[in-house]
Amino acid sequence: MAPHDAVLGWDEDANAEAYEAFCRAHPMYDTTSRTLARRAHLGDAGLVVDLCGGVGATARAILDLGPARARVISMDSAAAMQRAGRRTLTDTRLAWILSPAEQLADHVPVGGVDAVVCNSAIWKTDTATVLAAVARVLRPGGRFVFNIGGGFAGVRHPDEQTVRTGPSLNALIRQVAARDYGYAPSPSAADGAPKLSLQKVRALLASAGLAVVDAEVTAQHGTMAEKKAWLSIPVFAGPEGDFTHAERMRILDAAYALTTPQTPTVTSWLVVVAERPDTTA
Ligand SMILES: C[S@@+](CC[C@H](N)C(=O)[O-])C[C@H]1O[C@@H](n2cnc3c(N)ncnc32)[C@H](O)[C@@H]1O
Repeated sequence: MAPHDAVLGWDEDANAEAYEAFCRAHPMYDTTSRTLARRAHLGDAGLVVDLCGGVGATARAILDLGPARARVISMDSAAAMQRAGRRTLTDTRLAWILSPAEQLADHVPVGGVDAVVCNSAIWKTDTATVLAAVARVLRPGGRFVFNIGGGFAGVRHPDEQTVRTGPSLNALIRQVAARDYGYAPSPSAADGAPKLSLQKVRALLASAGLAVVDAEVTAQHGTMAEKKAWLSIPVFAGPEGDFTHAERMRILDAAYALTTPQTPTVTSWLVVVAERPDTTA
């Protein structure tokens, strides 16, 4: 079954506007994007792809951290996300391409891309196909840097235990939904098997011809207020199942009332750096 946040809502304007407003108000996607862009070795990059770029948070980080001459292509399959991004992110070095990530090699020069960065999206794609496409477009020595949400990768940073002071907002949402709506998690939501473990990623990268340079579990620190704003974006609102958005927002409000805005939150990510081997070096 597709993960809850892979629902077909990405191409809806209301969702895209909410996502873009969240990116302007909260640091989450900027922080995670910069974590990736810093690992992409952008020092002398001429062409960088922001894969599944959405409204452009990752493209912005690449433009900020890369050399002034670098051109960036932001590719996404949702026109609504790119429409929302184009309104605030105008930079002559940035081109927006509407395409599924799986078709990357149809749009950029094969063997001519210095780095590909993919923030918070790879597990939503046909990962094996995307990795093969990335391997085709990267120049020898070029890097592919991406992350996988901790729940999808089956990893937890130690800070989740030490910094967090109570149940997560998602756990409170499930409690409230059970109390007020008789909610019970679907068997697939409850089975806990990671969708894209590091072991699986290593195997997929190897068969695409990409070498793993580094894999690290990182912690992204935030607040309950930020988490609430994030869970208000329609594609991320929970719980999964047969709820209207208005019901989900009522559940979210009731769950949020059980905590405080400044309560610290920790989100784990598996960050992977891969490289196309340079056999000429
Ligand atoms: C959580 S957003 C991340 C956007 C951006 N990287 C950021 O950091 O803000 C996920 C994005 O992945 C896009 N996406 C999902 N599956 C895709 C696919 N197969 N090809 C291209 N884009 C895809 C969605 O449209 C959405 O814009």
